[in-house]
Amino acid sequence: MASRTIAVPSFDLVIVGATGDLARRKLLPALFQRDRAGQIPPGARIIGAARRAMDEAGFRAEAAAAIAAASPTPEEAARFLARLGYVHLDATGQEGWSELAGMLDASTAVRVFYLATAPELFAPLCARIAAHGLAGDARVVVEKPIGHDLASAAAVNTAIGAVFPERSIYRIDHYLGKETVQNLMALRFANALFEPIWNSAHIDHVQITVAETLGVEGRADYYDRAGALRDMVQNHMLQLLCLTAMEPPTSLDADAVRDEKLKVLHALVPLDAATESVRGQYRAGAADGGPVAGYREEVGHPSNTETFVALRAGIANWRWAGVPFFLRTGKRLPQRLSEIVVAFRAVPHNAFGAAAGPVRPNRLAIRLQPDESIDLWLMIKDPGPGGMRLRQVALNMSFDRAFGVRNPDAYERLLMDVVRGNQTLFMRRDEVEAAWRWVDPILAAWETAREPPRPYTAGTWGPAASVALIERSGRTWYDDGGFEDGTDAADGIHG
Ligand code: BG6
Repeated sequence: MASRTIAVPSFDLVIVGATGDLARRKLLPALFQRDRAGQIPPGARIIGAARRAMDEAGFRAEAAAAIAAASPTPEEAARFLARLGYVHLDATGQEGWSELAGMLDASTAVRVFYLATAPELFAPLCARIAAHGLAGDARVVVEKPIGHDLASAAAVNTAIGAVFPERSIYRIDHYLGKETVQNLMALRFANALFEPIWNSAHIDHVQITVAETLGVEGRADYYDRAGALRDMVQNHMLQLLCLTAMEPPTSLDADAVRDEKLKVLHALVPLDAATESVRGQYRAGAADGGPVAGYREEVGHPSNTETFVALRAGIANWRWAGVPFFLRTGKRLPQRLSEIVVAFRAVPHNAFGAAAGPVRPNRLAIRLQPDESIDLWLMIKDPGPGGMRLRQVALNMSFDRAFGVRNPDAYERLLMDVVRGNQTLFMRRDEVEAAWRWVDPILAAWETAREPPRPYTAGTWGPAASVALIERSGRTWYDDGGFEDGTDAADGIHG
């Protein structure tokens, strides 16, 4: 089933940091895919800006390499590359700014500055954009990390806010651009089925897992200063928690959705770091089918940065009081898996007797990646003429199988949303700061405790303490993506 493509208004998009990793791996391929899909109008231009001295032809050659994996036809590549310009720009000096001003077209409907740079440059760049009279109605896009704690995040936000009004600031959390994250909203708010039972009366707990097999991949400098709590929990995981827990918004307007997410962040219970958090760091082991070094070898020095974190969070409001939200994320885990599992309460009474086997509680597993899917785990009678035996199967809705469409990268949607002026999937200043307000005391408690992270072998599900964290409450992690006791999706009922 083909999805509808609606062209966006014409734009000048300036990518500052255009020779960097983000531009090469994500932004240029995403823009190419939208161009190929016919969503980008003929006059739209993409202007690369970076410190490196290079001409337009050089930038086009780099961009051609960046989009090669998408196997463009010669016509597609030529059309896309013809949109590209390049300016050699000094983010903190004078060089290149008047040239950039000369390249921008005042009559173009939308002007966007994408700051694909180190966060230290956000403030000086915004100041220069303003000083050269380029801000006007322009939009600015920034990536995480926005600060490393509440105070620094507020300072960055203030510096950006001194030039751009909030309605022109697009703070990217690329998890919000993932297809299944939006499906979570569709599932909750476009179906009457779940909402009446989406509360503490019917839900026992929620698990949110973002597991990666990768290590730190050449980002050791950044990562060693950040760690898993800042890198993944403060942003991506709390956003997933918000979308799972928020009240139904009155509309999908940016502020209607963001107001509801903010209320969840405000309702997060301060966490007792000693009993409700676990930090881990991988040692040498195996991942992606081969032996891998430990974190300390990778970064090249002794380090106490956590590469794994598990938390038990709580939300103090009418809907969720008493329902634990278990979050865990880590690098060098056994599989790449991002999943939200909503575990329902057990039936109040088992009428089947011991011979039928256990009656397992229902659960809904919303898988973001890989293989986006929604599985509703139900108990059924084991088919056949024998006695009444129960088994658990999944009503499985795999998006790939059901629709067979290419799964767009999150950046494709988010970049087009910037051009369309839709902020629903971007974080508002108060959300970012509310998330830090909850995270800061956890960081402070870890700092005070001075305990090194618990070691885990690369290729395992993190330190044993993470298992203890959840098992102390009588629950267990769904490590295998929701499959347990020998059943699997292949035994299930497929949608
Ligand atoms: C980034 C983190 O925000 O998200 C990385 O900085 C992490 O450390 C990445 O690897 C995960 O994103 P995805 O889309 O691959 O799950």
